[in-house]
Amino acid sequence: MALKITVIGTGYLGATHAAAMAEMGFEVLGLDVVPEKIEMLAAGRVPMYEPGLEELLAQHVAGFEGSSGRLRFTTSWEELESFGGDVHFVCVNTPQKRADYGCDMSYVDSAFAALAPRVRAGSLVVGKSTVPVGSAERLAGLLPEGVGLAWNPEFLREGFAVQDTLHPDRIVVGVRPEDGERAEKLLRAVYAAPIAEGSPLVVTDFPTAELVKTAANSFLATKISFINAMAEVCEAAGGDVVRLAEAIGYDERIGDKFLRAGIGFGGGCLPKDIRAFMARAGELGADQALTFLREIDSINMRRRGQMVEMTREILGGSSFLGRQVAVLGATFKPDSDDVRDSPALNVAGQIHLQGAQVTVYDPKGMDNARKVFPTLSYADSALEAVRGADVVLHLTEWREFRELDPAELAAAVASPVLLDGRNALDAERWRAAGWTYRAMGRPRA
Ligand code: UDX
Repeated sequence: MALKITVIGTGYLGATHAAAMAEMGFEVLGLDVVPEKIEMLAAGRVPMYEPGLEELLAQHVAGFEGSSGRLRFTTSWEELESFGGDVHFVCVNTPQKRADYGCDMSYVDSAFAALAPRVRAGSLVVGKSTVPVGSAERLAGLLPEGVGLAWNPEFLREGFAVQDTLHPDRIVVGVRPEDGERAEKLLRAVYAAPIAEGSPLVVTDFPTAELVKTAANSFLATKISFINAMAEVCEAAGGDVVRLAEAIGYDERIGDKFLRAGIGFGGGCLPKDIRAFMARAGELGADQALTFLREIDSINMRRRGQMVEMTREILGGSSFLGRQVAVLGATFKPDSDDVRDSPALNVAGQIHLQGAQVTVYDPKGMDNARKVFPTLSYADSALEAVRGADVVLHLTEWREFRELDPAELAAAVASPVLLDGRNALDAERWRAAGWTYRAMGRPRA
């Protein structure tokens, strides 16, 4: 079916989705209200670091030699109207509100307000943004007669956005009885092979589809905080959380993924999604069901402070004044330049605010880190960052850091002491090169 697709919002989710739709053979128009983003995308450049996305865009953005020309970008709602799409994907951001833990729906609301008068009867609007349960029902009321709505949450991970979009674990579609059949048919056409190949399609109602996303992220956050709670107990009892995670992970009912203990989760999704979920449950009178998420959040936030204390202790236990601390990693996870709610940058910032001279290096996150924390020092390489350091903190597990030469770094520091906040470096290799290696939730050697 030669469908015409529009994608509203071109962040991680929207830009990747638009490129994937073009890859599927559809004619696609991406819209964003931020002109700088659209200019970059139209020039085949991605406004963030996302492996493989630029290559995919180059294959489809109109105006490139050899490209399919199926993908265009605009800031104009009038252009979207005259494009006349069959399916409109809403992929805008739903950040945490500034005032409280609720979900800021203002971008979703403006997207629907702008879209409603411009979509033609018979077309389908598909919400992909992460929203509080109950939103889809309300938003459906804003669309004109004859325009359907489906809710189709997205589960992509930053750093794997292309892979997760082209080969999702599952596709979830929430529909209403009145336009269920047509919506399902259209989405089955959109998510034809190879996207849907091997991916189960779960068709359900609006609230369930909305809840699948927040439930999945809450479960992932719970797994991480669970293993971090075990790390705290290991620290008190002298156990080894890495071996513990390995051993419990062999049980298929538990599984070995998302059990990496360390300084905890961050980013633009897990922290704000669990908070918005609690806030929404409160509005629904079901807050008791989610009080455990408060504990998940607090275990997670505590890890950052524990990393600061571990650093203080290894430096002699008192003040950070006059001490030189090197921080490897600024992004909330590797293979991303995203520093939103980054545990690494938070730890670096806390230590800096307590008087240490902190020098940070990150393979891709330097520009964003500088914007968020301009008062930290930044170095152009790991070797430069550690020069003269009293202690080195490994806070984001980039492959580049696993491949460092511990002997070369030992020669550059004032004191070869390494704290691994991600349990990702080879302890024996660093110790063999003369380092004192300590990690969270692991015994001291
Ligand atoms: C997450 C979900 O995984 C994804 O399905 C959803 O669509 C968006 O939110 P993302 O935010 O890209 O994706 O990151 P993810 O890979 O889930 O990692 C989140 C955080 O958890 C990172 O800070 C990571 O370092 C941390 N983490 C992950 C751990 O601390 N330990 C682990 O074992 C796994």
